[in-house]
Amino acid sequence: MFHAARLAGLGQRRLAGGCRAARCPILCYLIAMVSVVLPHHSYEVTVESGALSGLGEQVAGRASAARCVLVTDANVAGLHGEAANASLQSAGFEVLEVVLAAGEANKNLDTVRSVYDQLLDARLERRSPVVALGGGVTGDTAGFVAATYLRGVPFVQVPTTLLAMVDSSVGGKVGVNVPQGKNLIGAFHQPVAVVADPLTLKTLPLREMRCGLAECVKHAVLRDPTLFDFIEANADAILAISPGVIAELVERNVAIKAAVVIEDEREAGVRAHLNLGHTYGHAIEATTGYGLIQHGEGVALGLIAAATTAAQAGICDAAVAVRIRALIDRLGLPVSADLADDATLATAMQLDKKVMDSKIRLVLPTKMGAVTIRDDIPVSQINAGWRAIRK
Ligand SMILES: NC(=O)c1ccc[n+]([C@@H]2O[C@H](COP(=O)([O-])OP(=O)(O)OC[C@H]3O[C@@H](n4cnc5c(N)ncnc54)[C@H](O)[C@@H]3O)[C@@H](O)[C@H]2O)c1
Repeated sequence: MFHAARLAGLGQRRLAGGCRAARCPILCYLIAMVSVVLPHHSYEVTVESGALSGLGEQVAGRASAARCVLVTDANVAGLHGEAANASLQSAGFEVLEVVLAAGEANKNLDTVRSVYDQLLDARLERRSPVVALGGGVTGDTAGFVAATYLRGVPFVQVPTTLLAMVDSSVGGKVGVNVPQGKNLIGAFHQPVAVVADPLTLKTLPLREMRCGLAECVKHAVLRDPTLFDFIEANADAILAISPGVIAELVERNVAIKAAVVIEDEREAGVRAHLNLGHTYGHAIEATTGYGLIQHGEGVALGLIAAATTAAQAGICDAAVAVRIRALIDRLGLPVSADLADDATLATAMQLDKKVMDSKIRLVLPTKMGAVTIRDDIPVSQINAGWRAIRK
């Protein structure tokens, strides 16, 4: 449950609600809001069980337009599209619904072009908001459309995967993939609001849920040891999507992501800490063939590898790696995989777009809740990371 005292500190969080037992005699509905205060634009992330039913009011409060666009994917449309659409309509919007084919393979310029066509055919004007209902693929694609259609229209993120709630919906990075690489075409376009309803996670496949949990563990390792304790203590309730626990998990992670974005909106410094585990993870994804190991699974393995490398380099205590591995295992994420040989993995790491001046820059934990960036780690210590997760 949320406690105002604990809410002070990380990011700018505000407890804004209490029990609304009228909606449900059993569940305790809480609203938490995290403010993302940036030099040129600020917005609130609302985390509320049942928030989808109030989406229309939220959008109407931030965009005065007769029409809006609801962009979702084919999976989410059938599960949560009707609730979102009904709420937008009851707030007075005429809704143009755009349903994308689901999946990373569709996060591309062809999809963007087809959305542009639908908006242009409907003569959608500049004040009309684009509302993205779905995971990171929908948010990134719809966000890129919102950033560029008529040189930018208001954008509301309604994340329905754990990854999108705790990561991709906050921070304004939007974009699509091209054959040359992932996320190479994009923009910074901050949303006017983010509305996260943790109850939508009830329909999320378990494997997707676990992938989002890898990002939560990452946040805990890089910023908040008490969040790590919380995930350890509540692993079963989290996997069961127990409403109070999951709402707290989402809110605490949003606060970390928001705090990092507030410090470094354009990824010039500290936002790079969010790449903890990713340089290893990307190399694993690239060398095992994209799709076999999901991104979140690569991150989970990468967290273990990074902590092991850090321990080998004397940067952090070996117990940190042990604890990370145990939690990842408990959450049902992989702790080992059939990996390519060290040389192939080293080449894949070099190709990562975070490499600068051909040096591999690694984000490594120094203790639970803190990280450092190093580009001087010897290959032997990087290889110790691979050894820790090789089957
Ligand atoms: N912009 C950023 O800052 C940022 C950060 C991290 C990741 N990303 C991007 O996010 C994307 C990954 O996002 P993702 O993991 O959410 O993937 P996704 O959007 O593909 O969603 C995963 C799957 O879950 C389905 N789904 C979504 N919500 C559901 C629900 N509530 N119930 C049932 N099914 C549901 C989707 O249809 C899809 O099949 C990648 O493209 C990545 O590059 C962006």
